[in-house]
Amino acid sequence: LYRMRPAAVHRPFARIDDGLLSNDFGALPATPNQLRWDPLALPAAGESVDFVSGLATMGGNGDPAAMSGCAIHVYRANASMRERFFYDADGELLIVPQLGQLRLVTELGRLEVEPQEIAVIPRGIRFRVELPDLKSEGGTLDAARGYVCENFGAPFRLPDLGPIGSNGLANPRDFLAPLAWFEDREGDFELLTRFQGRLWTARIGHSPLDVVAWHGNHVPYRYDLRRFNTIGSISYDHPDPSIFLVLQSQSDTPGVDTLDFVIFPPRWLCAQDTFRPPWFHRNVASEFMGLIHGVYDAKAEGFSPGGASLHNCMSGHGPDRASFEKAVAADTRTPQHVGDTMAFMFETRTVIHPSAQALALPTLQADYWRCWQGFEKRFDPGAG
Ligand code: FE2
Repeated sequence: LYRMRPAAVHRPFARIDDGLLSNDFGALPATPNQLRWDPLALPAAGESVDFVSGLATMGGNGDPAAMSGCAIHVYRANASMRERFFYDADGELLIVPQLGQLRLVTELGRLEVEPQEIAVIPRGIRFRVELPDLKSEGGTLDAARGYVCENFGAPFRLPDLGPIGSNGLANPRDFLAPLAWFEDREGDFELLTRFQGRLWTARIGHSPLDVVAWHGNHVPYRYDLRRFNTIGSISYDHPDPSIFLVLQSQSDTPGVDTLDFVIFPPRWLCAQDTFRPPWFHRNVASEFMGLIHGVYDAKAEGFSPGGASLHNCMSGHGPDRASFEKAVAADTRTPQHVGDTMAFMFETRTVIHPSAQALALPTLQADYWRCWQGFEKRFDPGAG
């Protein structure tokens, strides 16, 4: 980095309240129950909440001290950060906007991301977040909302494509890094950090976004999920869901990722004589899902943009009964376009512990389990 002042120029850090951020994933027993939440409430008018103070932990696993695992948060914000700056020493941040655009003003430049785009901010990079879609900024929204995965482990990378070959899924050319940009501002500013799962704050007399030029590869980037080159069956049956893998954090065990970022984008369903929705399954991975836009094709109702679900290791899940009945009745000689949708999943190697506050949310659906009730056995031993 070619910067105006060294990064060491600031007052000492002091602990502050962690708010709704949590890293105490062992505090509660993890649950094998299927969980689902309605969209989280936006900040009330009259309270000013920026991107950092609006972060709330939904769950996670592992430990930043061991540099393994992740924390899963949502953010709800109605104020831009002007005099507060943040960096995360515990991990890189994968940011998934769901409502409203974010302008990420980082040490290495500015990134603008809107819903259906993502941004990744590497460990340690200082930044602040502006919300250009707010009414107070000339936009139309009262607040912004989205999801954040804080990856304590190896940085996200693109997966090897195996037999797919050289192109497909998320293509490298679509990942965009910012141009260098700086601000030369002096004042009484705040530098926040998340360090070993706790929030700290320090006074700083200038904007730390004073990098005038840079080179290297520890850089923020953005990616438009609508650029994903979706692969799928054009004959029968389902390929593994790894066809939807955007980014992976590899573990020290070859072939087993610590964390995968997966999307379910618009696509054609063409498989014949096949139950086309995402199938019923249990698996070793633990799956936190969110919906960015539209309708998810395996759920008729109850899974709304801004909502979330959690299906932990070996907990059975899949389409609800209404989606099942519709798929069974579908004529699979005809292709079907799943258009108005963008869902995603943070999928982890180890069990995701929901946070105490996530389990206490009024938006947690107590009756989620009922969406799988009423299935009748369809086996007839006398049928030819
Ligand atoms: Fe699943």
